Amino acid sequence: MTRLTRRLALATAAVSLATSGLLLTPAQAQSPIVIKFSHVVANDTPKGKAADFFAKRAAELTKGRVKVEVYPNSQLYKDKEEMEALQLGSVQMLAPSLSKFAPLGVKEFEAFDLPFIFDDYTDLHAVTQGPVGAKLLKKLESRGITGLAYWDNGFKVMSANKPLKSLEDYKGLKMRIQSSKVLDAQMRAIGALPQVLAFSETYQALQTGVVDGTENPPSNLYTQKMHEVQKHLSVTNHGYLGYAVVVNKKFWDGLPADLRAQLTQAMAEATKVANDSAFKDNQDALAKVKASGKTTIYEPSKGDRFLLKKAMFPVHKQMASRIGDETLQDIYKATHFDPTKM
Ligand code: LMR
Repeated sequence: MTRLTRRLALATAAVSLATSGLLLTPAQAQSPIVIKFSHVVANDTPKGKAADFFAKRAAELTKGRVKVEVYPNSQLYKDKEEMEALQLGSVQMLAPSLSKFAPLGVKEFEAFDLPFIFDDYTDLHAVTQGPVGAKLLKKLESRGITGLAYWDNGFKVMSANKPLKSLEDYKGLKMRIQSSKVLDAQMRAIGALPQVLAFSETYQALQTGVVDGTENPPSNLYTQKMHEVQKHLSVTNHGYLGYAVVVNKKFWDGLPADLRAQLTQAMAEATKVANDSAFKDNQDALAKVKASGKTTIYEPSKGDRFLLKKAMFPVHKQMASRIGDETLQDIYKATHFDPTKM
């Protein structure tokens, strides 16, 4: 490169930086505000994609004044640690599954774990995108956490190394669950033995036989390669798994108002990315599991599903006082669900 072409190249780079809005004052260039966003799943999942999109849009909208560093796949923290890290301010943002908020003392979130509480995404959105969802996020404030959004994942399948067709098949199976008392009760209701394990430990626990099976939406199962160590999968769609995106409240409140507004905008767009891709990602993951030939997929009949629902449904009543009857009734009302008709 001649001196002239080098100068031209430098000038072009400067112009493109300036027009893209990334040319910062020296102070800004030295110290963008860093948001560490930790999560436990793969990049190629609804949550992973939305987190990466949020990082990109946050940089664009704040013109580089905020840098979001995404740490996927439990790289930085595992399930339990990440909640503590958020409260301590070691990370600023997380998107834990709704099943993981009770240990903070906000047990109402376990309502999302109740088996058969949502028939489909329409039911789910009636809660997450309405006043009930907003009220639940508000409850996090007293724990030093601000809830920014709900991100969808999907409905869970059951997997094991034996066919899961009838209720009998679950008896005595050691099933990995998330740290939720509702999920514990749900597994016990069908005679399984629930075992709480961090998401990052699940693959190995399945591989080594520490547990026999698990439940998760297909996107999580496939991207963690759990199908390689699970010979059978039953598309029970018996419960839902999704997320609340949360931020350390002190950090969030301390941001300049213009940045907070831009990040709120980036979050709204990222929420759309998560929710628009969730259904398809799970469908695709199931198709990929099928194509792998490693796992036999069973689609329960209406009758099989009804029997599963009947066995699991008493968990609603059993857990009502833990979750709070008001929250439960609010959800039933939002989804037009009549529990007496069960
Ligand atoms: C799990 O632990 O199974 C899920 O919460 C993982 C996730 O974040 O989707």
